[in-house]
Amino acid sequence: MKATWNLADGREITLDVPEGQSLMEAATRHGVPGIIGECGGSMSCATCHVVVHPTWADRAGEPGPFEEDMLDITEADRQPTSRLSCQVRMSAALDGIVVSVPEA
Ligand code: FES
Repeated sequence: MKATWNLADGREITLDVPEGQSLMEAATRHGVPGIIGECGGSMSCATCHVVVHPTWADRAGEPGPFEEDMLDITEADRQPTSRLSCQVRMSAALDGIVVSVPEA
């Protein structure tokens, strides 16, 4: 399954992401710039912030209550479809998802 990260500098990175892996894990394993994942996915750092492309937002789902709070302290301003990418896990429904990495 594939996911694409659009970087602030205009570059685009597409990776194979196995089912069940979070987009944060996939991004940090492959060194996608701007995704740090400092807390390892425990929702305490907000350094995995991405903005889901609007056409994928419904399928990616809504943030949970704790994620909601963390999204308010991201370094880049929160957008309507912002998510913590450690909370977005690859599934068949998300194959092909496109997200943007906000400029830090
Ligand atoms: S990796 Fe820390 S909040 Fe997602």
